[in-house]
Amino acid sequence: MPRVAPVESWLPLRRIARRLRRTRLEWLTIRSFVLDLRYGGSCGGTRPSRFAHLGATVTMSTEYHQLDELFQRAGIPVGPADVLVDIGCGKGRVINYWLARGYRNRIVGLELDPDVAAAVRRRVRSWPNVAILTGDAVDNLPGDGTIFYAFNPFDAAVMTRLKARMEALFLGKRQVVLLYYNCHHQGVFEHDPAWHVQLLGAVGPLPAALITLRAPAARA
Ligand SMILES: C[S@@+](CC[C@H](N)C(=O)[O-])C[C@H]1O[C@@H](n2cnc3c(N)ncnc32)[C@H](O)[C@@H]1O
Repeated sequence: MPRVAPVESWLPLRRIARRLRRTRLEWLTIRSFVLDLRYGGSCGGTRPSRFAHLGATVTMSTEYHQLDELFQRAGIPVGPADVLVDIGCGKGRVINYWLARGYRNRIVGLELDPDVAAAVRRRVRSWPNVAILTGDAVDNLPGDGTIFYAFNPFDAAVMTRLKARMEALFLGKRQVVLLYYNCHHQGVFEHDPAWHVQLLGAVGPLPAALITLRAPAARA
């Protein structure tokens, strides 16, 4: 009788099959590699934060195909006057993504970790439309920002400060949007009539929300 291999010996094969499915036969891995390279180097990997005591999460990048999906679901129109801001820009992959989409808008990356910020600033130095600001994103929030992106950069306390800062800068002046991926603290914005929270569902394994600070007339 032929011997059947024990179930445990199939597990690596299953893992490989799952990975091939997730990466669409590694096409997504190759695309990531090529785009990262085109903008000066790898944005992959996870780096623990030295600033966890300030509410910071780890540094890790959103995948390009997730950015495609997020911006497509959010349906945010990007005009030439928009200022794109990545709140907690980490290694700067979102900035690569915006550049690869052909946006020549002003782009601002805000990053708390000085080493991470310095590396991304060096990497994108040949793009005059891109500025990387080191320090707390709430303190450095650009007053001309219109489209904000955040990939779970920090805890609820910092998110609450961010909300207050956005209100101080923009409420009653103009509508701004925050595309929030892995949106652990979207509750900070809910139940406030100045804000509208639209859940976008899961993108990959993580939930996303489009959070809008309403246009001037909307608050009761
Ligand atoms: C999960 S990474 C996201 C990186 C990038 N936005 C992306 O999607 O590829 C979050 C980043 O936010 C940064 N961060 C955390 N707290 C911050 C703060 N208060 N101000 C600015 N950056 C912060 C972290 O250092 C980390 O690099």
